[in-house]
Amino acid sequence: NDDLVVLGIETSCDDTAAAIVRSNGEILSQVVSSQADLLARYGGVAPKMAEEAHSQVIDQVVQEAVDKAGLTERDLSAVAVTIGPGLSLCLRVGVQKARRVAGSFNLPIIGVHHMEAHALVARLIEKELRFPFLALLISGGHNLLVLAHDLGHYTQLGTTIDDAIGEAFDKTAKWLGLDMRKSGGPAVEKLAQEGDAESVRFSIPMKHHKDCNFSYAGLKTQVKLAIASRNIAAKVPLSCASSQDRSSRADIAASFQRVAVLHLEERCERAVEWALKIEPSIKHLVVSGGVASNQYVRARLDQVVKKYSLQLVCPPPNLCTDNGVMVAWTGIENFHVGRYDPPPPANDPEDFM
Ligand code: KG4
Ligand code: ZN
Repeated sequence: NDDLVVLGIETSCDDTAAAIVRSNGEILSQVVSSQADLLARYGGVAPKMAEEAHSQVIDQVVQEAVDKAGLTERDLSAVAVTIGPGLSLCLRVGVQKARRVAGSFNLPIIGVHHMEAHALVARLIEKELRFPFLALLISGGHNLLVLAHDLGHYTQLGTTIDDAIGEAFDKTAKWLGLDMRKSGGPAVEKLAQEGDAESVRFSIPMKHHKDCNFSYAGLKTQVKLAIASRNIAAKVPLSCASSQDRSSRADIAASFQRVAVLHLEERCERAVEWALKIEPSIKHLVVSGGVASNQYVRARLDQVVKKYSLQLVCPPPNLCTDNGVMVAWTGIENFHVGRYDPPPPANDPEDFM
């Protein structure tokens, strides 16, 4: 029970990921197959297409994770798999694969909550991170402020009332005509470095709502209008744009990023104040999810936590975006407290979802 070797499988959205992690925190292997090409072509995730893409690569991705770890399935202690939230067609591909592996090799199976995994992976990289702690989870589909009291015991302090920040980054990238092959966020972050963040006056969302909720739909609209009013030729790829066109795009990217992140800063300040009243012993703010790989986001939130003498814990970018390591690790944490299912029957033709 002490030394576990767990396979983690993640297929909730557009990445097919698998990893093998040991209970001491050692990452034995990590494989991610991205559908970024599909995304770029269609400008978003289409569930049916994403499901097919997962089905095509899942066996190969898991095999590669096992091989790269220098193991065989017989060396595994358990299989962890994301069971939600996410696109149900896509989740099924991962769950079916997990059940096949667990059934064939008589392994217990651990169902993992995707957002819990984004938060808990911080405990793999920062051994000092103990419960309770505060977590800001920012991705393409979610925007959550969560007070983690203990494993499996969370209080949601805030969520988005419309879009998540990652969605706003992705749309901004698309409307600015940026290269979407690696998802929009990194492209906006890169272009923003050339721009003047004060040049376009976007207003900060929900200024008058004194709570910890988020809203990004209005900011998205503001960006769309700003692009339209500047007559940017977004059909022209950035690499072919005139230098003036390029600099207006950069100004919009920088101004958008600044205000999008100001909204996070404000909400985090309030959440820290709330959290310290409920759990005065918290010492950490975890920031995870795809958008947490943004360096500007990290730098600004680091300033926020310093005011309260807290420590920012941000996993490295490849553990912030969707990955199998966070699923395997969350599986390990749950396994330790007895939260797992017995092995499914071998060669079970049933689909339990
Ligand atoms: O956690 P994740 O990989 O998938 C979801 O669960 O949604 O997050 C993906 C999101 C996308 O919206 C992507 O544009 C955003 O994270 N993202 C970024 C950056 N890298 C990824 N946003 C801003 N800056 C980045 N560097
Ligand atoms: Zn995610």
